[in-house]
This record gives sequence, structure tokens and C-alpha cells, in this order.
Amino acid sequence: MHIHRLEKIWLIFGIAMLITFLTVVGVGAFAQGMQPPGTHRHTVDPETVDKTAPFDKPGLKKVGDNEYEAYMLAFAFGYSPGKMEIPVGATVTFHITSKDVVHGFQIPGTNVNMMVMPGEVNQLTYKFTKPGEYLVLCNEYCGTAHEMMQTRIIVK
Ligand code: CUA
Repeated sequence: MHIHRLEKIWLIFGIAMLITFLTVVGVGAFAQGMQPPGTHRHTVDPETVDKTAPFDKPGLKKVGDNEYEAYMLAFAFGYSPGKMEIPVGATVTFHITSKDVVHGFQIPGTNVNMMVMPGEVNQLTYKFTKPGEYLVLCNEYCGTAHEMMQTRIIVK
């Protein structure tokens, strides 16, 4: 089989680039131990997380003047707690992890959007200035009932 000289050059160039990029990613991941970003990385065991404080009692905890911590669990296919009431004007720091696979945590109409990973506790702070019913959606495909996975936050 005859391969044109220019085709050969491009083929070698393409393979060389592929090897270069895979080497860069491989060295970064395995030799330099790169991890997901975060200054205070917090890990949990997804197998026992629902029996481990504070995730054994998910929900809202008051920590200051209209300041709250919300501990939440995601699972196929829902969130715990199932519904949450938050006073208007409250600043809420969400701490969320997954019991099984990767899920999402998105509140449409706000900038709240997190990936929820088993073994990792992700955090995000949001101030609820407008009263109303906020929908929480899973935006990572997680199984057959993924599109049913949601919860509600009532702000009043
Ligand atoms: Cu959970 Cu999609």
C-alpha cells in the first residue's frame, strides 16, 4: 500500500501529539498526584456516610444571625432531606455528598451548581434574598430515574 509522503508526515505528527498529551496528563495525575481543587478538601466513606455525623441527620443547622449550614445527601434518585424551609435573607452553606454515583445539585435561576461525588463533600454558599419555591435538580446523568431526581427549597 502506498501512503503519500505528506500523509505520512501528518500521521506521525498526530501520533506524536497524542503521546505528548497523554504523557502530560499521565504525569500530572500519577506522578504529581493532582486532585480535584479545593482548599479544605473533605472526604467521607460513601458506604457509611448516612450513619456518620452530620450526614446521619441531614438538614438545616443555624450557625449565626440568619446564617445556616445545610447538610445534604444525594442518592439514586433523590436528596435528603426531601424538602427544606429557609428564612428569607438567609445565607446558607450547603455541604453535600453522594451515597452512590455522581449526581448534580443545581438550583435553576441562581448560580448554585455543584457536582456531587461519592467520597467528597462539596461546599457552596448562597444567600436567598427572594422568597419563593426553589427547585433543586440533578444535572448529571445517574440512571434510569435521573430526570425524576429533584427536591425543593422553600424560602419564606
Ligand atoms: Cu442524580 Cu441524575
